[in-house]
Formats: sequence, C-alpha cells, structure tokens
Amino acid sequence: MKKRFIGNLEVSSIGLGCMGFSHGYGSIPERNESIRLMQQAFDLGCTFFDTAEGYANGSNEELVGEALKPIRDKVILSTKFIIEKDDFSKESTMQQVRTHVEASLKRLGTDRIDLYYQHRVNKDIPVEEVAFSMGELIKEGKILAWGQSQATEDEIRRAHAVTPLTAIQSEYSIMERMFEKDVIPTCEELGIGFVPFSPLASGFLSGKISKDTKYEGDDVRRVISRFDRDNLIANQPLLELITQVAKSKDATPAQISLAWMLYKKDFIVPIPGSRKIERIQENLGAADVKLSDDEFNQIEKELENIKIHGNRTDEDIAKLKEM
Ligand SMILES: NC(=O)c1ccc[n+]([C@@H]2O[C@H](COP(=O)([O-])OP(=O)(O)OC[C@H]3O[C@@H](n4cnc5c(N)ncnc54)[C@H](OP(=O)(O)O)[C@@H]3O)[C@@H](O)[C@H]2O)c1
Repeated sequence: MKKRFIGNLEVSSIGLGCMGFSHGYGSIPERNESIRLMQQAFDLGCTFFDTAEGYANGSNEELVGEALKPIRDKVILSTKFIIEKDDFSKESTMQQVRTHVEASLKRLGTDRIDLYYQHRVNKDIPVEEVAFSMGELIKEGKILAWGQSQATEDEIRRAHAVTPLTAIQSEYSIMERMFEKDVIPTCEELGIGFVPFSPLASGFLSGKISKDTKYEGDDVRRVISRFDRDNLIANQPLLELITQVAKSKDATPAQISLAWMLYKKDFIVPIPGSRKIERIQENLGAADVKLSDDEFNQIEKELENIKIHGNRTDEDIAKLKEM
C-alpha cells in the first residue's frame, strides 16, 4: 500500500473508518468478527484507523483498541473528543480535555493517541484555548498530534497559530465538495493533512445502494436527505459518470470516487468504512487505481454540469434520537 503524509504522520494512502463497527449504520458485526476485519485491513496494508469517544459511548474505542493491540506500534490511531458547553461551565478547558483524553487512553488500552481531533468545534469555547490544551497534551506525550473536524477556515487558522494542526477531518467526496473552496486550499497553504470522512457518501458512491433499501436502528441513512428516494433518483447522473469511468479503468465506482480525491492532492487521505472484507479490500485497492490527467480533467468538467441533491447534516442526524 502506498503511503502519504498528513503533517508529520506517515499513513497508508487510504485508511479505515471504524465507526460502523459499533455505530451509525444499523446492525453491527459480532465483536470478534469486527476485530478480525480491522486486523485483515492491516494485513492488506492499511495503517490508519479512525474512531471517536462518541461512537457507541466509547465502546468503539474499546473495540478498536483491542483490535490494534498486537499491531499498535505499526499503525496511526486517531480518535476524537467533544467538549460540551455544560462541561465547560464547570471546569477549565484544560481540565475537560484532560478528563476526555485519559478516558480515551484507557478505553483504547494505549499510552498515547497518535492523532486527536476535536470532533466539533464548540462555538462557546475559543479555539485558541482548545489549541493551547492540545499543545500541553503533546508536550506531555499523551497525544502526538491534533486536528479538528468540520472546522471553518477561520477556526483552522486561529487554532493552527497556537498549536500547529496535523489534520482536518471533514466530510468530502465527489458528491460533497463544499470544502474545496476554502478549507482544502488552507490545509495546503499551512501544511495540514485533509482526511475526508464519508468519502463514499455513506455508500451511495459504491453504486450498490438500492432505491428501495430500508434502513434501521441508528443508521444515519434513515434521516440524511441524500438518501431520500427522490434524491437517490435525482443523483443518478453522478453515479453514471463514475460507473462509466470505472468500466473504462476495470475498477469499481467506489474505487474511482476514492482515486479521484487521491489525485486531487497528495495530503488527502480518505477513511472509508465497511464491515465486509471484500469491500474493505475494494476500497483499499483504490490506492492502485491511477487516473490520468485527461481522465481527471474530464471528470471535473462533467461534474460542473451535475447538480447534487440532498446532503448529510448534523441537524438531520440528531433526528435519529427522536425516532
Ligand atoms: N468526523 C466526523 O464527524 C465523522 C463523521 C462520520 C464518519 N466519520 C469517520 O469517517 C469514517 C468513514 O465515514 P463513513 O463510514 O460515513 O464512510 P463511507 O465509506 O462513505 O460510508 C460507509 C458506508 O458505506 C458502505 N460502503 C463502504 N464501502 C463500500 C463499498 N466498497 N461497497 C458498498 N458499500 C460500501 C458501508 O457499508 P458496509 O459497512 O455494510 O460495507 C457503510 O454503510 C467513519 O467510520 C468514521 O470513522 C467521522
């Protein structure tokens, strides 16, 4: 597997998002099966694994920590924290962050977190305070590097000025390109890696999603508008485009979607998530699918004429709690 750098961290050019093993996409595999899948991903060359304290109340961290234990020093492990406003009113940002990092270290069964993201920038806490706290954790060796998720350009610049950021993890795919105009160029300017989450638009870009599939439990596809039946139908032109390119390259639509973003910038490292070995293999295999300049430019040209319907918002996902 080819390698890339995000900041100073060297990782496989495609990572594995581990959320779905516990959270966010409905039914989950049996525990040992999930552990086996993560270890198989490593055997296939993946050295970048992503989790968060918020996935299934920390149990995803426990699962990922257990899976990576035998290979801990050979992988880059990222997790995320959220500081709530209520927490902030009781304790200082540094105290809060310390509580969160200690709990994650314990659940992960490790002595350091390689990359620690603020899962969402809390508008009530100055980014500078969080950045300062991250600097302290780096000095103490509790974390090696830090990042933000879904941050704006202004939040990135302000945080980076206090403690340099290693990566921004935000939603990005051939279907959701909103960060191309400001965040990705800012990452390039400041030498920060960009880690797209939902790089396959929650599976839509695999071309294997049926318009009639019903989703259950905590599956975000029950509530995000991208999966409304009408939007699934309206978004077929995008799927047709990547399917056509895939056929000409003897690849799959998911692979073309990932190869497209790998072509864009060398500091982009997507973290698709899957609970099936053949799909993990397919996704990691995208690192070997190379688009030519002409193929890439043709895709970009055609994208200009394709309107995207629906999206994936935190507000829609919050509706799951009421269902
Ligand atoms: N920072 C944040 O706020 C944030 C938000 C969301 C996610 N994340 C992180 O980013 C990771 C990736 O996000 P995501 O899971 O939404 O990414 P994704 O890869 O776009 O979507 C995952 C979904 O697509 C399906 N899928 C994946 N590869 C496939 C393939 N080759 N063929 C068919 N279906 C495929 C999976 O189904 P199966 O599992 O059934 O194969 C799963 O339902 C997460 O695991 C998590 O670590 C971060």
